[in-house]
Amino acid sequence: MNFSIAGAPGLTDEEFRILRDYIYRRCGMYFEDSKKFYLEHKLGTRLKELGSRSFSQYFMEIQQSGGDETEIQEIFNTVTTTETSFYRNAPQMQTFRNLVLPEVVENKFSSGNRTLKIWSAGCATGEEPYTLAMLVLEGRSSFPSDLRIEITASDINRSVMNAAERGIYTARAAQRLPVELRERYMTPHGDGFRVNREVRDMITFRFFNLANGTRYLSFGKMDIVFCRNVLIYFAEASRRKALEDLSRVLNPNGFLFVGYSENALMMSSRFSLVYYNKRPVCYRMASSKGSMHRRIRH
Ligand SMILES: C[S@@+](CC[C@H](N)C(=O)[O-])C[C@H]1O[C@@H](n2cnc3c(N)ncnc32)[C@H](O)[C@@H]1O
Repeated sequence: MNFSIAGAPGLTDEEFRILRDYIYRRCGMYFEDSKKFYLEHKLGTRLKELGSRSFSQYFMEIQQSGGDETEIQEIFNTVTTTETSFYRNAPQMQTFRNLVLPEVVENKFSSGNRTLKIWSAGCATGEEPYTLAMLVLEGRSSFPSDLRIEITASDINRSVMNAAERGIYTARAAQRLPVELRERYMTPHGDGFRVNREVRDMITFRFFNLANGTRYLSFGKMDIVFCRNVLIYFAEASRRKALEDLSRVLNPNGFLFVGYSENALMMSSRFSLVYYNKRPVCYRMASSKGSMHRRIRH
């Protein structure tokens, strides 16, 4: 039997390849060879809890159970990277507040549609959708009074989403928010802060696997999608597919925000870059009005 540190089963090269391919097929994430020890460490602890003697036995048990969804969920919860923060990437947040929201709301207003839909896809512990909700509230006095705002936040990791729904954060985490937002939309709670109910009530948290293309439209068409620091963990084919699917979810005047380091990975001709303060910050649908010939520069 092959054991790694602390008595957890070790992962052979062959088992690593099986595990990597399995995770890729289920959720689009792809682990390079250099991540073998990461997976061994993360899942080894789970195997120890279950009393599995080896990864091969673990796979066999999952397969024999016909793909035990609870165990597959455990894998998602264990292997995903969930690092996030409030007001992450300030230029993107400023663009959302100052450029994208007013434009999308104006388009809604002129088309007679009164529902603004925003999706935080891969929301982790919730800092991203809560920041968006706070910024929407900041702009709200200039929006038509009958505008409905729906924010959906989703993830494949149920454990972080449960934490997100509670909306409770350490003081250190909350410090990433500009102080005026923290004072207006959070309340001291124990040693940290809790997001106020007004903000929590704006968000619906839902499980969603971005590698499952068939269900992309289950939340309806979106005006603004944030899918930041998620696709970077995907293999190229699954990333391409997810981008195609996201382009179908967006309304023709919609906007897509990806992570800073993901800009270089955007290979879809369906989107064109939007600049703010001379920096590339997000994407709009390439077919949308004016975008073919005019890149927005502020
Ligand atoms: C690094 S966090 C990014 C959080 C936030 N978007 C941000 O930029 O701060 C990546 C999140 O994507 C989620 N994720 C990974 N693969 C996913 C998939 N196939 N479907 C949905 N979410 C996924 C992870 O569970 C994790 O919470």
